[in-house]
Amino acid sequence: MDQKVSGEKDPLVLFMPSGRRGRFKKGTHVLEAARQLGVYVESVCGGRGICGRCQIEVQEGNFAKHGITSANSHISAFGAKEKRYADKRDLKDGRRLSCSATIEGDLVVDVPQDVQVNAQIVRKAADTRLIDRNPAIQMCYVEVEEPDMHKPLGDLDRLKQALERDWGFTDIIVDQHVLPQVQKILRSGNWSVTAAIHKDMDTARPSLIALYPGLKNEAYGIACDIGSTTIAMHLSSLLSGLTIASAGASNPQIRFGEDLMSRVSYVMMNPDGCEAMTKAVHIALNGLIEEVCAESGVDPTDILDAVFVGNPIMHHLFLGIDPTELGGAPFALAVSGAVHSWASELNLALNDGTRVYMLPCIAGHVGADAAAATLSEGPHRQDEMMLLVDVGTNAEIVLGNKNRVVAASSPTGPAFEGAEISCGQRAAPGAIERVRIDPETLEPRVRVIGIDAWSDEPGFAALAGKTGVTGVCGSGIIEVIAEMYLAGIITEDGVVNGDLAEKSERIIKDGRTFSYVLWDGETPLTITQNDVRAIQLAKAALYAGIKLLMDKQGIDHVDRIGLAGAFGSFIDPKYAMVLGLIPDCRLDKVKAVGNAAGTGARMALLNRDYRREIEKTVTEIEKIETALEPKFQEHFVYAMALPNKIDPFPKLAEAVKLPEKAEPAVAAEGAPGGRRRREGRRRRD
Ligand code: FES
Repeated sequence: MDQKVSGEKDPLVLFMPSGRRGRFKKGTHVLEAARQLGVYVESVCGGRGICGRCQIEVQEGNFAKHGITSANSHISAFGAKEKRYADKRDLKDGRRLSCSATIEGDLVVDVPQDVQVNAQIVRKAADTRLIDRNPAIQMCYVEVEEPDMHKPLGDLDRLKQALERDWGFTDIIVDQHVLPQVQKILRSGNWSVTAAIHKDMDTARPSLIALYPGLKNEAYGIACDIGSTTIAMHLSSLLSGLTIASAGASNPQIRFGEDLMSRVSYVMMNPDGCEAMTKAVHIALNGLIEEVCAESGVDPTDILDAVFVGNPIMHHLFLGIDPTELGGAPFALAVSGAVHSWASELNLALNDGTRVYMLPCIAGHVGADAAAATLSEGPHRQDEMMLLVDVGTNAEIVLGNKNRVVAASSPTGPAFEGAEISCGQRAAPGAIERVRIDPETLEPRVRVIGIDAWSDEPGFAALAGKTGVTGVCGSGIIEVIAEMYLAGIITEDGVVNGDLAEKSERIIKDGRTFSYVLWDGETPLTITQNDVRAIQLAKAALYAGIKLLMDKQGIDHVDRIGLAGAFGSFIDPKYAMVLGLIPDCRLDKVKAVGNAAGTGARMALLNRDYRREIEKTVTEIEKIETALEPKFQEHFVYAMALPNKIDPFPKLAEAVKLPEKAEPAVAAEGAPGGRRRREGRRRRD
């Protein structure tokens, strides 16, 4: 084999995008150079020129920064293996097989992250992030010596020898379900087989988990985020890294309880409760597996690895662990570290050898989903102080940079999802999602899901006649309350100003308080004083949690904010800030990060290095228990005001004209009934 040699004369090779470089003797295969530098280049056939997975591209030009002039003439001419492959398959212009091409001069080599050999597989447009690959599953093609009467070594033993000889795997553990198939598969493949080897940790022994006759040039994995309301699953190719199908479904556990605490209560009250909920989620997961496989034409038994994330209670129920301990202090997790298991043990209809990996949980309230979101957004890799918030009925909050990361959860309750709002509803056609209020006339304009026009634009009435205007969804609630504040309809303490009833018919008396008529249609939609209070309580709980983390970090502002989850994708950061849901920050630094937990799960699926990264990071994250922090109450009371009683919002004020502030130091009117009330709100979800 070609050897790496340090020396001025040997050609210098730089691999992109990793940036790894080294000097190699002329004639060294590019694949060998990549291996020596730890650059991940896929190979299934072990360099026989038949799988096409090892493709690379030479970048031509003078790379002054690296001191390299790279040219196609610095790599060997198209070899026989490449010609044969290109004739049989499609090898795009400029692509080379790194197992065939050799280094003949200085080179900059690009390792494309999307080497696709199965043309029928379509890439999901919605999922564009390419993830460096280093999966726990490796497909290894070998040619095994035929049996010989004079050498009594068994078929499996000769297979193991071949795997050691060609792939360097020693001490392989063979899954029991593979044993009875070995002889048949070896013969049907005419002594050529592809072994699926699972090796997650470097220190672990490799396992032979599946065996296929001939060349098996594809393997798949699923990444799944089990949310308390919805479950999202992605099917990815472990060899190209592409996501090829995605599906989502409601979590069927909802029938046992809407929120997390009611599911824990169900387990406590019913002896079979845990089993029933575990079974329900497994059935739903199998339904999603069927769906992604049908969409992509992939056989479920070709799915060999699976990564799951979820909040602590979803995590436990998926694994069949009774979550009762998570229902009360000290919120003890049965297991906080990463879990390695088998799909067959979890009743998932995949290959008998399919492995399961679950990311670690951060704390009793902050689960593997938050760990996955952290992995995806990487506050721990940044200089900037990043706040990552997943607003659910129990918000998970992570704040930090590369020096220190802290995390907590905050009991926001279901108000943001419309559950405690008189006219609230889930985001669905007919729900008001955007609101603007004229500060002079107090007249609103709204946008409704399913209708493109604003309510004061032509065509709206006709379309609204069809769908109806039925309620206000989470993003609409945030906007209407923020707009009511900006228009002076509510004070900074959240009181609906009854004096305005004289000015506008939209302000109406409602018992001892006043309400605002947002929609005067067939179903009148009114924002009551209680609705405003419910949002104040929810946002104050979230903000107080964030402030505790900011206190821990000793900071008075954050540099950037990532809003995760469905709610984060739909709310307008400006209105979230007007409301004081999130701290002051430059608006262009506040971003919806989508299903960050799902992206983190995909990262862990496609690259085992990310598993090690998040396992290490989670042990370093400092967990804050909001219920035990004396300052939570104080932060909470100040955060009842809009946007906040004492915290300034200078960056927001540059973008939005905020109402004049009332004199400070007055406790927020209608402030919550203190700790007891909040404790009752803890752990709603
Ligand atoms: S490693 Fe299979 S073609 Fe190069």
